[in-house]
Amino acid sequence: MKIPVDIAVTGAAGQISYSLLFRLAGGAFLGPDQPFVLRLLEVPAAMDALKGVLMELNDCAYPLLQKVITTSDPKVAFDNVDYAFLIGAKPRGPGMERRDLLECNAEIFSVQGKALNEVASRNVKVLVTGNPANTNALIAMSNAPDLRPECFTAMTMLDHNRAISQLAEKCGVRSREIKNVAIWGNHSATQYPDLHHAKVKGQDALSLVGEDWFVDDFIPTVQQRGAAIIKARGQSSAASAANAAIGHMKAWARGTEEGDWVSMAIPSDGSYGIEEGLVYSYPVTVNGGEISIVHGLDINAFSRKRMDITETELKEERDAVRHLL
Ligand code: NAI
Repeated sequence: MKIPVDIAVTGAAGQISYSLLFRLAGGAFLGPDQPFVLRLLEVPAAMDALKGVLMELNDCAYPLLQKVITTSDPKVAFDNVDYAFLIGAKPRGPGMERRDLLECNAEIFSVQGKALNEVASRNVKVLVTGNPANTNALIAMSNAPDLRPECFTAMTMLDHNRAISQLAEKCGVRSREIKNVAIWGNHSATQYPDLHHAKVKGQDALSLVGEDWFVDDFIPTVQQRGAAIIKARGQSSAASAANAAIGHMKAWARGTEEGDWVSMAIPSDGSYGIEEGLVYSYPVTVNGGEISIVHGLDINAFSRKRMDITETELKEERDAVRHLL
């Protein structure tokens, strides 16, 4: 049996975690021969609810799960962790402006970035899901100067999966017959879901679906999917977000498929003209745990404009929290 790895999950009593934890604990992420310890972080007010989650985890008697630690202290939660799912965040309350949401979540991610810096494994893989995810990842990264920036990512895998699903439905094919869709930029309504490089059963996707559907249906549907789910379900996407979080971490830990890529928001190195340091979603491949931006894609004027709009929003978000960076 391998040595156990430590996995932290924040917001562990929340709705995404309720879908995530049981799949993680069942071995969906690191495979059937990797034991692990779960370190669950919550705010003090949610510790009772977390106790219930713990009881249910125990009641599953998962063979790979060595131990579960529950805590409201980030330094305990992140002690020597190899993987950190940063899901916990404050939802937008009534009358709250986007700027207020940015500010109160910024505090959370600055505290957690400092704690990761102090106690996490030096090769920790951090996935920020809590919104605004890209900027929260930027804050955590900026508060962890002793960790490599490459340790920090934010989640656009749900948007990536939504793009695959829309395209598969339009073309009447299975999702695994779709390759090379890409999400550029922010995990928000300004994101740019791009089909210029996508393939459906090896054929060029755009020539199959046509420009009009791409511009008038596909892009707004993917951009607005989160809002559509809240409208239909009365709550934000949770199971699909948990599924995407597992997909993101699985790709990071175990690599991407030959001939395909995934989308991840990562610290920009200036590729495709995006300002260095912004946490921006790119098409990426992963090999041996190292994430690489897919280079050499042709960017036409339409794409350039969309990529710039979402970059501008990320710069504005960064400027609003500059005091915490
Ligand atoms: P939720 O409100 O059900 O759960 C959030 C949990 O985080 C709560 O239990 C809360 O007590 C906890 N929490 C708050 N502050 C914390 C702190 N400082 N430390 C530890 N825990 C803390 O929310 P849900 O539905 O689980 O969503 C979580 C976040 O994920 C939200 O910000 C949501 O907007 C975001 N999200 C992101 C997606 C993405 O694709 N990037 C997709 C869907 C949701």
